[in-house]
Amino acid sequence: MSSAPRENRKKVTLTKLAEMYALGEPIVMVTAYDHPSALVAEEAGVDMVLVGDSAANCVLGYDGTVPVSMEEMLMLSKAVRRGLRAPLMVGDLPFGSYEASDEIAITTAQRFVKEAGCDAVKLEGGGNSVSRARAIAAAGIPVMGHVGLTPQTAVSLGGYRAQGRTAERAAAVMQDAIDLQEAGCFSIVFEAIPTEVTDHLMAHMKVPVIGIGAGPSTDGQVLVFHDLLGIHDGHVAKFVKSFADVRSEMVRGVRAYADEVRGRTFPAPEHGYSIPPEEMDRLRDLAPAGRTPSARYDW
Ligand code: KIV
Repeated sequence: MSSAPRENRKKVTLTKLAEMYALGEPIVMVTAYDHPSALVAEEAGVDMVLVGDSAANCVLGYDGTVPVSMEEMLMLSKAVRRGLRAPLMVGDLPFGSYEASDEIAITTAQRFVKEAGCDAVKLEGGGNSVSRARAIAAAGIPVMGHVGLTPQTAVSLGGYRAQGRTAERAAAVMQDAIDLQEAGCFSIVFEAIPTEVTDHLMAHMKVPVIGIGAGPSTDGQVLVFHDLLGIHDGHVAKFVKSFADVRSEMVRGVRAYADEVRGRTFPAPEHGYSIPPEEMDRLRDLAPAGRTPSARYDW
């Protein structure tokens, strides 16, 4: 991962990712959902930014990822685009926006590229998604796969739980990953897969695998911005490590502000503007203090 200043960092392209993969350099991906989080990801020097549909929970207050709409994802992606320069930007296709046919999948992916400026898109699952991934890739749009725990279809997977914990289920996850790879995905996310299963699968993978709860043997890792920074309160998955406690700092800051407003210590003189004394004298002549509010606009 580069820590070069923003203006010196080269754009992360698919070629650059392939180089990192060939050299065995770990690939860092993080989610972002708005302009400030994009600027943070940019400055921190990550390689890829995913505008994940986890935005549904993290910033839009939905219970899961299913309800988030394409328009909402496009709006968030555009905000991220305005803050990102170097990292490869991947837009997550939301539930219901790509499954019905290859044509719909291509049209949706094109909107993420054309309207929101995404460099690539991501879709979830094997099965029909393999054909959708193939179609999107053939339409010239880089596509990332996602296997294991796929939150958009968590209900049919038995809930938010690790996948591939029996030999049959692990073989099914493996088949999905291989199918997506053969369909032309430039990279695949492995989510919530037992470490030994990942280790076993990695021998079959020829594109960068980005893990989240899939152990250390993947080519890169991804975490959700709000999880890794500790912005959430409440439950986080077993695979999350919080690298900061931003939420408490945010609450501390807002409380301190509220205390100062209530104690009339904010704003202080240095937070105000000034007017030349002679202008103030003229104002007193022009609009004497003590006029009633209704007379305010007479002058
Ligand atoms: O939406 C998301 O944040 C994701 C990552 C967990 C990979 O899909």
